[in-house]
Amino acid sequence: MGKEIRSVGVVGCGLMGSGIAQVAAQAGLTVTVREVDQGFLDKGLGKIRKFLDGGVAKGKMTAAEAGAILSRIHGVTALEDLKGSDLIVEAVTENLDLKREVFSTLDRACPPHTILSSNTSSLSITEMAAMTQRPDRFLGLHFFNPVPLMKLVEVVRTVRSSPETVEAGLEFARKLGKTPILAKDSPGFVVNLLLVPYLLEAIRALERGTARVEDIDTGMKLGCGYPMGPFTLLDFVGLDTTYSIANILFDEFKQPQYAAPTLLKRMVLAGYHGRKSGKGFYDYSAEPPKPTEGLV
Ligand code: 3HC
Repeated sequence: MGKEIRSVGVVGCGLMGSGIAQVAAQAGLTVTVREVDQGFLDKGLGKIRKFLDGGVAKGKMTAAEAGAILSRIHGVTALEDLKGSDLIVEAVTENLDLKREVFSTLDRACPPHTILSSNTSSLSITEMAAMTQRPDRFLGLHFFNPVPLMKLVEVVRTVRSSPETVEAGLEFARKLGKTPILAKDSPGFVVNLLLVPYLLEAIRALERGTARVEDIDTGMKLGCGYPMGPFTLLDFVGLDTTYSIANILFDEFKQPQYAAPTLLKRMVLAGYHGRKSGKGFYDYSAEPPKPTEGLV
């Protein structure tokens, strides 16, 4: 048995990092979350506060419970300040050089028992583990957006992850109220390996003129019981993110189902990144959002 995880470090307080920090604090763990400066930190902590306030308004928790959760989250700007954590989840931008800097600093600063993990959706866990002196205590912990609502965590092991580390990862996910699945370090793990070609195929159907954006979305929502149609989901995940995952999958497998359609590339180049940029397959300046005109 490894050491019980009581304190958690989170690197990055963006969309994913703030969600991970929140669910860890909701599970009663002490959380230290790091952002590059106070401005980003305040923004990230603001996202957590907003979600918890929403929960209070919906009657999911009391204001006192929300306050107690927030009091367990400590914001810092120095990576070294995460050194008291039993487990650290990295959730910074998907850039390997940036991750190298994060993991080599954490590896130097943290005691030997600290488990390091990455929330990457597409980069190699094995490559990141090799940036540290503790590849046996390194794994992937892939959360889904929106983190507080999505029940899954992919626990990703490399050939060098120790069985105790894998067990600690599974146990950590369960402690957060999530259901873990175990996957080997292979591009896309399980979910993105299946989800991304589906999303790309929806774009190809649009390019081919099979149906309109809103009809493809309605088709998959009502025909398959999916909570969102593929274009709503593409806008939600981010077209830039999907494009980058598709390129990584294609690079690895060289199979046409992972090749990014021209329309996706053009939209990313045009700055149509989805909901976060105000425009993707839908235009979010209207309420309710309208399909974006002139795409095909
Ligand atoms: N506090 C507490 N609970 C809240 C809340 C809050 N602030 N906000 C919402 N909730 C609860 C609601 O009360 C509701 O609970 P109930 O089922 O008990 O009534 C539940 O959360 C759902 O909330 P809503 O009814 O407001 O929202 P929807 O029903 O529209 O669901 C959704 C929203 C969960 C986002 C749903 O649309 C969905 O599942 N979409 C698909 C998302 C998805 O596929 N994500 C994965 C993307 S891929 C990824 O992340 C991987 C990456 O690598 C690319």
